Amino acid sequence: MTISVIGVGYLGAVHAASMAELGHRVIGLDVDPQRIASLQAGRAPFHEPGLPELLRTGVDTGRLRFTTDYADLAEADVHFLGLGTPQRPDGPGADLRFLHAAVDSLVDVLAARGGAPTLVVGKSTVPAGTAREIAARLSAINGVRLVWNPEFLREGLAVQDTLAPDRIVYGVQDPELDDHLVHLLDEVYRPILERGVPRLVMSFESAELVKSSANAFLATKISFINAIAEMCEVTGADVTDVARSIGMDERIGSKFLRAGVGFGGGCLPKDIRAFLASAEEHGVRSLAFLREVDAINTRRRTRVMELAWDMLGDLTGRRITVLGAAFKPDSDDVRDSPALDIAGRLVAAGARVTVTDPAALGNAAAKLGEDVVEPDTARALHGAELVVLLTEWEEYRHLDPWTTAALVAVPRIIDGRNVLTPSDWRAAGWEVEALGRSTPADSRDVDPASRGQRATLVGSVT
Ligand code: UGA
Repeated sequence: MTISVIGVGYLGAVHAASMAELGHRVIGLDVDPQRIASLQAGRAPFHEPGLPELLRTGVDTGRLRFTTDYADLAEADVHFLGLGTPQRPDGPGADLRFLHAAVDSLVDVLAARGGAPTLVVGKSTVPAGTAREIAARLSAINGVRLVWNPEFLREGLAVQDTLAPDRIVYGVQDPELDDHLVHLLDEVYRPILERGVPRLVMSFESAELVKSSANAFLATKISFINAIAEMCEVTGADVTDVARSIGMDERIGSKFLRAGVGFGGGCLPKDIRAFLASAEEHGVRSLAFLREVDAINTRRRTRVMELAWDMLGDLTGRRITVLGAAFKPDSDDVRDSPALDIAGRLVAAGARVTVTDPAALGNAAAKLGEDVVEPDTARALHGAELVVLLTEWEEYRHLDPWTTAALVAVPRIIDGRNVLTPSDWRAAGWEVEALGRSTPADSRDVDPASRGQRATLVGSVT
């Protein structure tokens, strides 16, 4: 089949390359000419394992090409909408401008095509009601129909999640009547469906809510364990023991129970805010707990600042090395990254901060400045009075406490992701703090003056 993918950011680029891998002829469109030039040259514009290989194969075989010109989409039978729906600049809701602008441009192409049967497939994360609105606009053109097909890919595992998803969801205008649309989209995904991946058909609104609910649930699960981490800190319990034990109950499950500096990235934070805004617009008050999910998440960042003050006192002029800038490992994405936010707060508190990361330093430097970043881990650690591990890259999980101690000025570390074994590090002479497994505040020997100073640490600077 001939397919177009409109919007080749994170979601769209992976989707386009994956659809070419399934054997389709794919044309990806974006308004950003630089992005298009990079993709057309077979280069991924961001770090995503497996994507460069798919891009190169797709481009080399001629199955995959990219354009900035909507007129080039005329030959496609299926058009995927992969536009970003970021947080609005003026509030918590989703900004649908890019999506609506793409639909405007697509409508012109489809109208010129004159009645040939065409399927438009929405993949963006949108508030419930958006698909029905877009469907109404598209229905003005003969033969054009919409399916809403939310995407569940995770950065770092995006190719695998696209080609081998847990499930595929189709939202249609009328589940009783829209059989032919289901079959058409089944053709696109045939190799995936033949491997037994479940496909669920439901209303537009249900499909939209599947995506919002999934991300809200994941964020809530993380904030739940981080709230328990707060309890662990005041009682002297260890959140990793608690999480491991409750996760063994199959009804709870062990995934997304890793306590630490919490969730970031281009999806969970803005999606829970947009979901809450949409609920409140509809007069539903019961999703108000998502506000607290967001607040718990942000408090974990403040907690790292408190620990830094507890360990160092006044941070002015102190040398602090931050391990990690990306919002999670295997990604160069620093959008709403807890690591970058904390690094920025440390800089704002007057510390001499060095940030290192295997993939995200370009993006980190754009936010914090070139003088703060250092690509070489050993050089970054050299002379540190405090090390703060904030993104759990493999490289940092496996740091040797003895050799690392020889690099730093004073062996002090905060494990913001709970990936180190504190006893091993303490045995090598390190003072160790970790989120949710710290010694209770009362029993710690803290200078009361520094407690007062640390209480003034507020706000995010990234
Ligand atoms: C998330 C969802 O997991 C995907 O299913 C969804 O498709 C995607 O958003 C989206 O809406 O596009 P992603 O943002 O790539 O995917 O990242 P996650 O793997 O969900 O991690 C999000 C954040 O939570 C990261 O900062 C990670 O470090 C943090 N996290 C994750 C924890 O703090 N603890 C955990 O136990 C798990």
